Amino acid sequence: MRNSTVIRESWPTSGRLAAWPAGVLIAALMALAVAGCAGGDPLVGLFLYNEADPYILEFGRQILGAAPSGFAIKKFDAANSQPIQNEQIDNFLDRRPDLLVVNPVDRLGAYAIIQRARSAAVPVVFFNREPLAADMALWDRVWYVGAKAIQSGRLQAELVIKLFGGDPAHLNAFDRNGDNVIQALILKGEQGHQDAEIRTREVLHSFEERAFRVEVLALEIANWNQAEAYEKIHHLLRQYQSAIELVISNNDAMALGAISRMRQNGWFNDADGNGVIDSRDPDWTPVVGIDGLRAAEQAITEGYLYGTVKNDSLSMALAIIELAEFLLGRRSGSSLSATVEDGRYIWVDYTPYVYQP
Ligand code: GAL
Repeated sequence: MRNSTVIRESWPTSGRLAAWPAGVLIAALMALAVAGCAGGDPLVGLFLYNEADPYILEFGRQILGAAPSGFAIKKFDAANSQPIQNEQIDNFLDRRPDLLVVNPVDRLGAYAIIQRARSAAVPVVFFNREPLAADMALWDRVWYVGAKAIQSGRLQAELVIKLFGGDPAHLNAFDRNGDNVIQALILKGEQGHQDAEIRTREVLHSFEERAFRVEVLALEIANWNQAEAYEKIHHLLRQYQSAIELVISNNDAMALGAISRMRQNGWFNDADGNGVIDSRDPDWTPVVGIDGLRAAEQAITEGYLYGTVKNDSLSMALAIIELAEFLLGRRSGSSLSATVEDGRYIWVDYTPYVYQP
C-alpha cells in the first residue's frame, strides 16, 4: 500500500461536508444531476488503476463499449501508481470536465481525489476499489459501483462444497486421503484490498458455518497477478504435492497462474485416456477463481479450472454509464436499472460459473 499522507498534503483540503442521510430517495439524487454539459458533448475521464490487470482491462473496455455516442470519454492508465493517477486527474480537471469515473490505485487515495474533485465541482463515480465510507461521506456528489466481496467468498465456498459432495461428515473421493478434511492452498490478492481481505475471510467462514473442515496448508499473497502466482505456487506444489486437494484463489488471474505451474509440474494428466482433462482423472485437483475472465471460461471448458465466480464487469459498466447519464442530465433518476443504496452505492451481484456440458 502506498502512503497516502503525502498525497493528501499536496492536494487542497477543506472542511468536511455532511454525508447524505441513509436511504435517501432517487428524487433527492435527481436534485444533484448536472445540466452543465447541455450544450456540447460531455467530457468524462475514465481512470484505471492498472491496465496490466486483465480484469481491469476487460472492465475498461466494457465501460467504453457501453458509453453512448456523444460521450467524450478519455481513458487513463495509472500503471499501478497513485501519484501518477493523481497527476492524471489533476491535469484532466484543468480541462473542466463534467465527470470523473475512477478506479483508484489505492482505496485510501480516494480521499485526495474527492477533495480535488469537490474543489473543481466535478462529480466522481468510483468503481472496483471501494473508498472508505468516511471518505465517501466527504461530499454528496460521490458514488460507488461495485460488487459485495462477501458474496463472492460465499459463492466460492458453495462451489467447493458441491464438488466435495455436500455432506461435511462424508466427503467424496475428492478428499483424496479420506480424512474428511479438505487440504487447501490459498492465493490471496493485494493486502488491504477489500476484495482480497473479505474473500479470504468469507470463503473460510462459509466452510466453518457449514461444518466443512478445511486445513489451509499455506496462504500466499500474489497481488492479483498471474505471473506472481505462477512463481509463488512452485515451492508449495513441491512441498505439499499430492496432499493438496484444493486451490482457492481470490481471482482468476492467480488461478490461471497456478494452473500453468501445476501443468508444468505434472498435474492435470488425461490419466484415464478419454481425450479430455476432467475431474474423473485421478490426479485432477480443483482450482477455483473469481472474476469470470474470458481466459478463465476457456480454462473451465478445457477442464483445468473447476469454476469461478463472475464479478460482472458488464453489468457494472452499464450501471456506471447509466449513472453518468443521470449525473449529466441525460437520464431521469427513475429510469436507472439498478437500485441506488444509501444514496450513493450501486451493487451488482456475483454469480457462480462452472462447466455446463
Ligand atoms: C478485483 C478483481 C481482481 C482485481 C482487483 C483489482 O475485484 O477480482 O481480479 O482486478 O479487483 O482492484
